Amino acid sequence: MATNRTFTMLKPDAVNKGYIGAILEKINAAGFKIVAMKMTRLTKNGAQEFYKIHEERPFFNDLVDFMTSGPIVSAILEKENAVEDFRVLIGATNPADAAEGTIRKLYAGSIENNAIHGSDSDENAAIESAFHFSGREVFSEDI
Ligand code: PPS
Repeated sequence: MATNRTFTMLKPDAVNKGYIGAILEKINAAGFKIVAMKMTRLTKNGAQEFYKIHEERPFFNDLVDFMTSGPIVSAILEKENAVEDFRVLIGATNPADAAEGTIRKLYAGSIENNAIHGSDSDENAAIESAFHFSGREVFSEDI
C-alpha cells in the first residue's frame, strides 16, 4: 500500500441526509482522487471488527449501533500526504470543535453522528482499505 492513500466512509447520517454528492465534491475539490468506492452496509460483526481498537471505550456499542443503522459509502483516496490532509479536510471528531469549512462542520450533527471517517495513519489506511475492498476493486497506477 502506497503511503499517499487514505480510507474514508461517509457514515449513515450523511448518506441518509442526502449529502453524498456534496461531500464527494468537497473531496474532489481538495485534490483527492477516488481510486475505489462503494455503497454498502456494515454488519454488527463487521462494525465491531472495524472499530475493535475502540472496544474498551464507553461509546463503543453506540458507535457500532450507529455505523450499522444504514448504508455507508466507503472509498479509498489518493493524494500526496493523504492521511493528514484528509483529517484536516474532515475536521475535528466533534463537529462543534471542527474548523469552518470542514466536512464535519458543514454536514455533521454531533460527535455521535459525525458524517465521515478518515484513517488516522498510513498503517490504518492500509488495514481499513483491505477490510472494505479487494485488490480488484481498487483502480490505481500504484497497484
Ligand atoms: S479519532 O478519529 O480516532 O481521533 O477520534 P476518537 O475520538 O478517538 O473516536 C474514535 C471513533 O469513535 C467515534 N466517537 C464516538 N462515537 C459515539 N459516541 C461518542 N461519544 C464518540 N466519540 C467518538 C468517532 O467518530 C470516531 O469514529 P471514526 O469513524 O474513526 O471517525
